[in-house]
Amino acid sequence: MVAQLLGLAFLFLPASLVTSTTYEVKINENWEVLYRDTSVYGVLGKAVILECGTTLPDVYIWSFTKPGTEAIKAVVLDLGKGPRIQKLAETLGRLSIISNSASVSIEQLPVAAHGLYTCQAFYDMPGEPIVYYYYVHLTVRVPVSKPYLLMSDVSPVEGSTMWMSCNLENGTGPVRYVWQHETRSGNISAFAQGNTGVINVTDVNRNHTGWYRCVASNAVNSETSNRLWLDTIFGPDIPQIDVTPYSITERGYSALERETVSLLCQAQSNPASQYVWFYNNSQIYTGPQLTITKILRMHTGDYACLAQNTYLNTRSRKTISLTVYYPPDGSPSCSVEPALNHTSLRLLCSWPGGFPSPSLHWSGQLKQLGQNEVDTEQQTNPVTNTAILLPPEGLVSNNSLFTCMGSHLALKQPTECSTRTYIPTAEPVCFAYVTNSKQYLMLSCSWDGGAPKALVWWEGPGEQGKGGQENSNILILRYGTARNGKPYTCYAKHPLLVQTKTCRLTLEAPQLLTRSRVVSVYEGSDVQLTCNLRDNYLPVSEITWFNNQGVDVRDTSKYALLRTSAWANLTVRDTKQTQDSGEYRCTTSNAVGGTDINVTLVVKRHPMPPNVTLVSVMYNSKQRNEVELEWQLEDEEPGGWTGFILQHVWVSERPGRRGSNNDSKEEAEERIGPPVWYQNIIQNPEVRSHTVGRLTPTVTYQFRITPVNHRTIGHPSAAKTPAEPSYNAYPAVIGAAIGGMFIAALITVLLLVFIIRNRNNNPRLHDLLFGSQHSQSRENINFPEDEVVRGSEGDIEEIGGPSNLGPTMPLPRAASPLAPSKTPSPSPGDDNEPVSVTITVKATGS
Ligand SMILES: *[C@@H]1O[C@H](CO)[C@@H](O)[C@H](O)[C@H]1NC(C)=O
Ligand SMILES: *[C@@H]1O[C@H](CO)[C@@H](O)[C@H](O)[C@H]1NC(C)=O
Ligand SMILES: *[C@@H]1O[C@H](CO)[C@@H](O)[C@H](O)[C@H]1NC(C)=O
Ligand SMILES: *[C@@H]1O[C@H](CO)[C@@H](O)[C@H](O)[C@H]1NC(C)=O
Ligand SMILES: *[C@@H]1O[C@H](CO)[C@@H](O)[C@H](O)[C@H]1NC(C)=O
Ligand SMILES: *[C@@H]1O[C@H](CO)[C@@H](O)[C@H](O)[C@H]1NC(C)=O
Ligand SMILES: *[C@@H]1O[C@H](CO)[C@@H](O)[C@H](O)[C@H]1NC(C)=O
Ligand SMILES: *[C@@H]1O[C@H](CO)[C@@H](O)[C@H](O)[C@H]1NC(C)=O
Ligand SMILES: *[C@@H]1O[C@H](CO)[C@@H](O)[C@H](O)[C@H]1NC(C)=O
Ligand SMILES: *[C@@H]1O[C@H](CO)[C@@H](O)[C@H](O)[C@H]1NC(C)=O
Ligand SMILES: *[C@@H]1O[C@H](CO)[C@@H](O)[C@H](O)[C@H]1NC(C)=O
Repeated sequence: MVAQLLGLAFLFLPASLVTSTTYEVKINENWEVLYRDTSVYGVLGKAVILECGTTLPDVYIWSFTKPGTEAIKAVVLDLGKGPRIQKLAETLGRLSIISNSASVSIEQLPVAAHGLYTCQAFYDMPGEPIVYYYYVHLTVRVPVSKPYLLMSDVSPVEGSTMWMSCNLENGTGPVRYVWQHETRSGNISAFAQGNTGVINVTDVNRNHTGWYRCVASNAVNSETSNRLWLDTIFGPDIPQIDVTPYSITERGYSALERETVSLLCQAQSNPASQYVWFYNNSQIYTGPQLTITKILRMHTGDYACLAQNTYLNTRSRKTISLTVYYPPDGSPSCSVEPALNHTSLRLLCSWPGGFPSPSLHWSGQLKQLGQNEVDTEQQTNPVTNTAILLPPEGLVSNNSLFTCMGSHLALKQPTECSTRTYIPTAEPVCFAYVTNSKQYLMLSCSWDGGAPKALVWWEGPGEQGKGGQENSNILILRYGTARNGKPYTCYAKHPLLVQTKTCRLTLEAPQLLTRSRVVSVYEGSDVQLTCNLRDNYLPVSEITWFNNQGVDVRDTSKYALLRTSAWANLTVRDTKQTQDSGEYRCTTSNAVGGTDINVTLVVKRHPMPPNVTLVSVMYNSKQRNEVELEWQLEDEEPGGWTGFILQHVWVSERPGRRGSNNDSKEEAEERIGPPVWYQNIIQNPEVRSHTVGRLTPTVTYQFRITPVNHRTIGHPSAAKTPAEPSYNAYPAVIGAAIGGMFIAALITVLLLVFIIRNRNNNPRLHDLLFGSQHSQSRENINFPEDEVVRGSEGDIEEIGGPSNLGPTMPLPRAASPLAPSKTPSPSPGDDNEPVSVTITVKATGS
C-alpha cells in the first residue's frame, strides 16, 4: 500500500517541484519518505482539526481507513489546483479545509468518523523534493449517558447480601463507576467505585441505610444517576435504659425517695421498636419512657424493658435493678457511755433505718490533743451506728462537746446530734435509812449528774456490795447486823476523773445528850427536860421519854412533849415535889444499838424568908380605930422575901362597950374556936411600915407580920398588941392576951396552909390571901416545911433558888405554861458526856 501511494505521489511531484523552486530545501539524496504519527481525540458531535504539517504542501492527499478494514480511501486532495473534497467525506461529518493549510476541520463528529486519517504531503523542494506521510488516528469518543441505579433489594435485612448496578446506555469506555451514599443527615460519601457497573454488598448493615447514587465517568464526562433510598431492616438491638437522674452503684441504679425518676428505653431498630416495661416481671407500662413521680422505697426492684420489631417479629430485653434510697427518720442519737471499767469513754451514735445506711462521723474536743478531730478508729462507712473509744483516763475535760454528724445520700443537709460529758458536780452523797418495818438498814450512796453516769459501789466490813451500779447504789443490811463503828465505804468512779471518789458511813449506835442530868426546880413551876442526839445523823427511831413512873410520856395536861428527829423535850407542868420528882428516862435506838439517858428531876420548895420583928405597933389616935405598925427584918438579904402578910386578931373587948357591939360578943364567944386573923397583904418587899384602919375601938387586937417568899411563908413574928398613943391603959389586958396569941398564931398558919393547899377548892380565900389567880403579880409560894435540899452526884440545877430570885425564876404557869424554862446552860463538858450512841455518818471525799 505504501508503495502504491508513493508511486502516486511521485507521479505528480515534478510539476509541483517545478513551480515552487523558490524553497530552499535540501534534497533528500535517498528520496526517503518521512512519516509522522499523531493521535487526535474527538467527541461525538463536536469539532476536531486534523493537521497535516505546518506549511501548506504543494500536493497533499487526505485518505481515510475505516477501522477493521484495510481499504484506504481518499477524502480530500489538492494537486496544486485547490482542494477537492470527495464524496466519502459526507459520512465523516461536516468536513472543511482550513484555508492556507492542509489541515482538515470536522464538525459534528459522527461515530463513523472514527478511524485512521493519512495525509500524504509533497513539498517540491528544488533539487530535493520531500514527501511526508502524516498518520492521524482520530478517535471519536461518546460521552456517558445518565446512568440509572438498580438494587436487588431496597429493604434488605441487616446481614443479608445485595447488589447494586449502575446502568449506562451510551458512553465510551473505559467507564468508571462511583457509588455515592448520602446519609440521613446529608453527609455524602463515596461508597464504592470500580470499572464495573455492579457491586455486591455483603452483610448489609444499618449504616448502609440512606440515599444512593451512582456516577459514571469516562474521558469525556461524568453523569450521576437519580438517587435511590436503601432502608436496612434491623433490630431491635439490646435496649439501652437511661435512668434520670443518673446514679449507679455496684447494686445497680439508685434513686432517692420522692424524686421523679424517668427510665428511658432505647433499642435501635428499623422499623422503630415497640416498648413494654415490666416491674418484677409484671407488665406495667407501654412506651419508651417510664416515669415514676415521687418514687417510694417500695418501688425498689427490677425494671425490664422489652423492645419489639414488629416487622421482623424480633425482640430484645434489658433488665436493670433500681434501688430507692431513703434516709433514716429523724436525726442521729448520741450518747456517751463508760468503757473499760469506767476508765474511758465510748461515744455512741446511732441512726437506724434508712437505705443505704447513713454515714456517721464523730467530732469533738479532746483536752490534751487540743484538736477538734477525734482521731481514733472511727468508722465513716455507712452504718446505722458508730462507736468510738476515747483514750482512757482523763483526756477528756469536763463539759466537752462531741458531735456526731450523720449524712445520707437522700438528704441535702447532714443532721447532727451532740452529747456532753460532765463530771458530777458535787461529791458522792451517802446516807442510811431503815425500812418501815425495821427489817432492813439501807446504805445509800449516790453521785448524780455525771455524763456518762458514774459507777458507784459499796465496800464494808464483811459485806461487799454486789458490783457497781450507775449513779447510785444501795447496800441492804439486815436490821441489827451492821457493824458498830466500822466504816462502810462507797466508791464512785467517773471516767473523766482518774481518782475514785469515796464516801464513808460509819455506823454507830446513837448517843443522847441532855442539858443536865439533874434538874431541880421550885415547886409549881414548869420545867423542861431536854434530850437530843449527839450527832444529827439518822437512822434513829423516835426519841421516847419515860416519866418518873417509867410510863411512856404522852402529851397531856401534865406533860408537853415536843420532838423532832434530833431531839425530844419534855416539859413537866406545874411541878409538885412529891408527884414529879424522880428519874425521867429518854431513850432511842437504831440499827446498831439503843441507848437511854436518865434525868433526875428535883422539885424543891422555896427557902424560908428571914424572920421579921414588929418593932412598933401603936394606935395613932385616941379613937383606936387605926394602928400604925413598923417592922424590921432580921437578915436583910436582898430578894429573900417578896412581901409580907400583916395580920391582926381580936383578943378581947372592953366590957363597957359590949352592948354597943354585938360582934364582940360573937367574937368573944368564938374565942374558943380558931381565931380569925384579918390580914393585909403587902406585896412590896421594901415597905417597913403600914397603917391598919377600920378597927373597932373597943376591941383589943394583936398584930403580927409574916414574911412571904413566893410560895413559902416564913415564920410569923411575935404578936403584939398596939400601944395607946399617949399611955398604956391596958397593960394587963394585953399581957393576958399574949398567951392565947401564940395559939392563935399557930392556928392562923395552919389555916393558911390549908387555904393554899386547897386553893383550887377555896379560891376566894386563897385569892384573898395571895391575890387573884389571874393577877400578873401572882407568885408561887412554897412552905417552909416543904423545903428540900437534896444533894446528888450530878450537878443540881437550882432553878429560881434563893440566891437568884427574880430573873431566873421559873415562869409563872398562867402567863406561859409552855414557855421553856430559863434554866442556865450547863457548862461545857459538864453532864454532856455521851451516855449512848448515834449513827454518825461522815462523808469523806477524796
Ligand atoms: C445513544 O446513542 C444512540 C445512537 O447514537 C441514540 O439514539 C441514543 O439516544 C443515545 N442514548 C442516550 C441516552 O443518549
Ligand atoms: C461525613 O462522613 C465523613 C466520612 O464518613 C466524615 O469524615 C464526616 O465527618 C461526615 N460529616 C458529617 C457532617 O457527618
Ligand atoms: C456478585 O454476586 C454474584 C452472585 O453471587 C456473582 O455472580 C457476581 O460475580 C458478583 N459480582 C461481583 C462484582 O462480585
Ligand atoms: C455504623 O457506623 C458507626 C459509626 O460510623 C459504627 O460505629 C458502627 O460500628 C457501624 N455499624 C455497623 C453495623 O457497621
Ligand atoms: C421486687 O423485687 C425486689 C427484688 O427481688 C424485691 O425486693 C421487691 O420486694 C419486689 N417488689 C414487689 C412489689 O414484689
Ligand atoms: C474494775 O475496777 C474496779 C475498781 O477499780 C476493780 O475492782 C475491778 O476489778 C475492775 N474490773 C475489771 C474487769 O477490770
Ligand atoms: C462541769 O461543767 C459543768 C458545766 O459547765 C459545771 O456546772 C460543773 O460544775 C463542772 N464540774 C466540775 C467538776 O468541774
Ligand atoms: C429542845 O431541846 C433542844 C436541845 O436542848 C434545843 O435545841 C431545842 O431548842 C429545844 N426545843 C424547844 C422547843 O425548846
Ligand atoms: C435510869 O432510871 C431507871 C429507872 O427509872 C433505872 O432503872 C436505870 O438504871 C437508870 N439508869 C441509869 C443509867 O441511871
Ligand atoms: C425565926 O423565928 C423562929 C420562930 O420564932 C425561930 O425558931 C427561928 O430560930 C428564928 N430564926 C432565926 C434565924 O432567928
Ligand atoms: C349587933 O351590932 C350591930 C352593929 O354593930 C347591929 O347592927 C346589930 O343589930 C346588933 N345585934 C344585936 C342582936 O344587938
